[in-house]
Amino acid sequence: MCGIAGYIGNRNAPEILFDMLRRLEYRGYDSAGIAYLSKGKVVISKGKGRVDEVRRNSKNGDSSIGIAHTRWATHGGPSHENSHPHTDCNFRFTIVHNGIIENYKDLKQELVSEGHRFSSETDTEVIPHLIEKFYSGNFEKAFVESVKKLRGSFAVAAIDPEEPEKILVARKESPLIIGIGKNENFIASDTPAILPETKKIIILDDFDYGIIGKDDVVIKDLQTGDRIKREIQTIDWDIKQAEKEGYEHFMLKEIYEEPDAVKNALKGSNEIREIAKRISKYQKVYFVACGTASYAGMVGKYILERFGISSEAVVASEFRYSTVNAIDNNSVIIAVSQSGETADTIASVKEAKKRGAHIISVVNVVGSSLTRISDGNIYTYSGPEIAVASTKAYIGQLVSVTLIALFIALERGKITGDYVNEILHDLNGIPEKIGHILKNENEIRKIAEKLFKKDIFFYIGRRLNYPTVLEGALKIKEISYVHAEAYPAGEMKHGPLALLEEGVPVIAILPNDDLAEKMESNIQEAKARNATVILVSETGDLKVPPVDPLLSPILYIVPLHLLAYHISVLRGIDPDKPRNLAKSVTVE
Ligand code: AGP
Repeated sequence: MCGIAGYIGNRNAPEILFDMLRRLEYRGYDSAGIAYLSKGKVVISKGKGRVDEVRRNSKNGDSSIGIAHTRWATHGGPSHENSHPHTDCNFRFTIVHNGIIENYKDLKQELVSEGHRFSSETDTEVIPHLIEKFYSGNFEKAFVESVKKLRGSFAVAAIDPEEPEKILVARKESPLIIGIGKNENFIASDTPAILPETKKIIILDDFDYGIIGKDDVVIKDLQTGDRIKREIQTIDWDIKQAEKEGYEHFMLKEIYEEPDAVKNALKGSNEIREIAKRISKYQKVYFVACGTASYAGMVGKYILERFGISSEAVVASEFRYSTVNAIDNNSVIIAVSQSGETADTIASVKEAKKRGAHIISVVNVVGSSLTRISDGNIYTYSGPEIAVASTKAYIGQLVSVTLIALFIALERGKITGDYVNEILHDLNGIPEKIGHILKNENEIRKIAEKLFKKDIFFYIGRRLNYPTVLEGALKIKEISYVHAEAYPAGEMKHGPLALLEEGVPVIAILPNDDLAEKMESNIQEAKARNATVILVSETGDLKVPPVDPLLSPILYIVPLHLLAYHISVLRGIDPDKPRNLAKSVTVE
């Protein structure tokens, strides 16, 4: 996600702000910028690219107050115009923002109708124009009134050259902290930006807003305006730990972000509904992707089949040389890719386009190559995924693919709107259910301690959870370097059963659905060969809360991500940087 920073004190704000942005770079970004106040004016330096590039091209000024931003694009691709900071029509009220403003389209429409001129495609730019609209002599009052209009998530900082003694901040869902210095104060999205300057911080809560001066910090309640007390904490992390927010590895941090990955993907529901209306007329549906993303595509295929709609899920390296020959203008390709830069997936899409196919992409990185050659894009909004092994992005893909399959079935009259609403209601409950699984991490680590010396793993599941076991097996392979086979459980007796013997671990997915008895038999077959069966179920070794079977892939993969992570660490491997692998495979 984006990173915001701010400084007010006696030292040179631009220098300090660029240093703070450098310490936010690990979060992943595509553009950066700063704004500072000098001689009654706002001075802005921003653009697409690295912090150092923006710094080299910036006008170095003498200022004691400023704000800054690293952008991870969500609305509007990476560009100079879309980079932050953003200002109002008169280049006065200047803000930086991290989060997603869900009602920005309505707000923007109203502001434009009132004569406001916008210069970007971002959701963020509505904020300075709202401040301009509500301003009647009091910056704080206009700021509060504007922020109260926002729906979605925000950590926002604002400055006004007419009131240069303060930075105004507010937060809801997106993190925002204040660093307490001596005759100076700092704001940032998280601790690495602040750590070298001060270890004393205040963590704002949702609906807090703050007036940050160089000698004082006042925090108030956004709804009531009442002053509130927030304790000053002392952080004892070093920078490296702080970048991982105290987690040992980015992969573990990103697994713990899986509840948010569900919430963020759900923010795309309306767009997905619109896209489904457009593509439901295409008779042939293909999910095309690589690796982990291809398993999300497979889940989409199984969900459509559940509703009587046939489709195909094909890995891109096969699709581009074979399946593509069957593509025509009655085909829709749903390409799934975290990076949006995977060579095989992009090549498949280009070949399919030549044959008249309609292209939809499910992507995490806004403005990536795949999004630029697609007819429509569904963003998972998972935020930057730093670890090579995909975890939270997979969860985001599953949510988006589940939604697109649901809405296609609805458009085709296979299911009712009531049923869709039921599933949407259950989806909203998934983040909490993932949280319950994460609370069980110690149990999962104990199972990893029993298994980490094994030299082969079997994963078995059926139907919607066949992709789940494929993903579980891939995770073990890519970060523990151990061979792992994933099989449709019903297939074991057609050969692989010969490999089972005393102590061979078999990870079995057993959701509470109409195939439970069949799965039970397969589990018995494994136990009869003295295999070590690890049951993933509501009451098994790896426990999962009850969930609608349609949504089971989203939940049942979480313990498998944690299991793979702990086995990797126990085998002395850095799960963030597995050998031979790249985060994005941009070559064939
Ligand atoms: C997943 O853990 C791997 N890193 C890999 O399989 C990845 O999913 C695959 O390369 C596809 O990448 P993409 O989603 O960026 O297209």
